[in-house]
Amino acid sequence: MKNSTETADCRVIFQPVGKRVVVKAGTTLLEAGRVAGLMLSANCGGVGVCGRCRVTVVSGETSAPSENELAYFDSTDHGLGDRLACETRVASSVVVEVPQGSLGEGQRLQVTGSDTSSFAGDPMIATHQLVLVPPGLEDSRSDYGRIVDALKEQGASIDWTMHPETGAQLSHLARANGWKLTAYSRGNELIGFSSPNRTVVGLAVDVGCTKIAAYLVDLQTGEQLAASGSPNPQLPYGEDLITRLVFASKAPTQAELMAKLLRDTIGELASSLASTAGVNLHEIADICIVGNTAMMHLLLKMPVGQLLYAPFVSSIDRDIDVRATELSLPSAPGAQVHVLPAIGGFVGADHVAFILSHGIDRSSKVTVGIDIGTNTEIVVHDPRNGAFIATSVPSGPAFEGGHMSDGMRAASGAIEKVFHVDGKLMVQTIDGLAPVGICGSGIIDLLAELWRLNYINERGHLNRSSKYVRAGKNGLEFLLVPAELSGSGRDIILTQHDITEIQLAKAAVYAGIATLLEIAGTAVADVQEMVVAGAFGSFLDLSSAVAIGLLPRLPNATYAQIGNAAGAGAKLALISRTEREQARLIAKLVTRVELKQHESFNRLLARATRLPAHLVKAVL
Ligand code: FES
Repeated sequence: MKNSTETADCRVIFQPVGKRVVVKAGTTLLEAGRVAGLMLSANCGGVGVCGRCRVTVVSGETSAPSENELAYFDSTDHGLGDRLACETRVASSVVVEVPQGSLGEGQRLQVTGSDTSSFAGDPMIATHQLVLVPPGLEDSRSDYGRIVDALKEQGASIDWTMHPETGAQLSHLARANGWKLTAYSRGNELIGFSSPNRTVVGLAVDVGCTKIAAYLVDLQTGEQLAASGSPNPQLPYGEDLITRLVFASKAPTQAELMAKLLRDTIGELASSLASTAGVNLHEIADICIVGNTAMMHLLLKMPVGQLLYAPFVSSIDRDIDVRATELSLPSAPGAQVHVLPAIGGFVGADHVAFILSHGIDRSSKVTVGIDIGTNTEIVVHDPRNGAFIATSVPSGPAFEGGHMSDGMRAASGAIEKVFHVDGKLMVQTIDGLAPVGICGSGIIDLLAELWRLNYINERGHLNRSSKYVRAGKNGLEFLLVPAELSGSGRDIILTQHDITEIQLAKAAVYAGIATLLEIAGTAVADVQEMVVAGAFGSFLDLSSAVAIGLLPRLPNATYAQIGNAAGAGAKLALISRTEREQARLIAKLVTRVELKQHESFNRLLARATRLPAHLVKAVL
């Protein structure tokens, strides 16, 4: 390491994105990336064990390779300058190459779900078109008094209230618009004003672990005016929610940072949506947010320590209303943020929104609903016996490409599909680029094909005598794409360890569904609908998912992939007070099941790691 003091300034340039930042010597490349606003992956939160923050130091002086790096890379990698960003400290100005597979940004962001435009809304917000009498020597009523009188003339003779910030907006806009205004009210509170003849809009947001989806909706018609998504800005602090909860629990400043990252990103999404739709930020009169339990705690800066230990108790699971200004979100001055209620534990407001949007609570069909991610939520509703139960299983980051040797998120160059033609494996990548890694849907396809083509047995063990199976530095591995055909210049492989990770993840989901059905007293043959929500679920090949035993084979059910159902539920609760009330009812009606307390879950979990020829006979 170069002889340098801890206080020297070092310029770090991240290529090919071109982000630059000046940091003190001794800063890790991961930290420099965070400061530069670079969405570097960091599954393990920066403790040097996941390998997702892999970068190449092109020039400049850095710390010597750590023990973790020596264990992770071989000597050839070191010769090429490959490093773990979380373990590498800068000692001079450096240029760093960041491969696509190490970036959280650029990932495919699923925002579409059911449309609300045909939905007859009854929003919380009323709109009033007002023409005021200007003040004069004979008329010195306050601006507020003029508004109240104008509303009284329209028949709205109630005891109005108004926050001082709303009053400040009133005095300014009334004069700027010649005493003609659009007023917004919620109950008896005047919450904001705009130019005459403007509409009123609301913002619906789904905060996921890896991405945030936001929608701008006309509150009067229910029409979606714009939709957009952004990677969750907390990704550089850990891929899974537990790592982020641990980070936030360590110091108030760290909890503050986690909240600020989410709030800033929601604010940026709101600004970009408003600009796309041609509305002003102060015309956003209502906001509805859903998300998993961890994200909602971090957003609202609620204590998270108790979420880290059994029995995983949340601070609050009822719905919450808070002024938008308290969360620094751009909106009408008196706008509120409504956070949907949670069912309990890690079965959060996003799952309530999912149930709401697909009408699982009001369906006459026996339904299994599932949202697969790093945490997978499952609900079973059997209207015949009234069973309505839900659970959450920690399925790990394998389905999002995490903890895999060549896993990556669903971004350009990721292998998203694997299939075979005449026994020969073929791959399809996002944007048709040369492959640089495998994302979740590709991993499920690959495992299914390896199983169908007998490259693995029912225990998932690679057949060492097969073509393309070879001994790697960490055991057996399957060569999917040779270096000369990949976009990274390296072989793309699936190791025996990777296969075990997928088996564990898929077993947790499968055993979770089977256990819930058992508790509900519902036979597999009685299930009429299987609903798969979420980004991963949207791109998943259902036949591959059933082939490896991620999803059960339900002989009499239809399978549906419904996209971002949580976002769709947030939109419904935004535009309709009836749906908002229904969300409260769902949270009360659904009973949360703690799977670990059920012996059958533990029994099924061990057996469900196997591949389905066995499962179909022995488990279901
Ligand atoms: S190894 Fe660097 S973040 Fe996990």
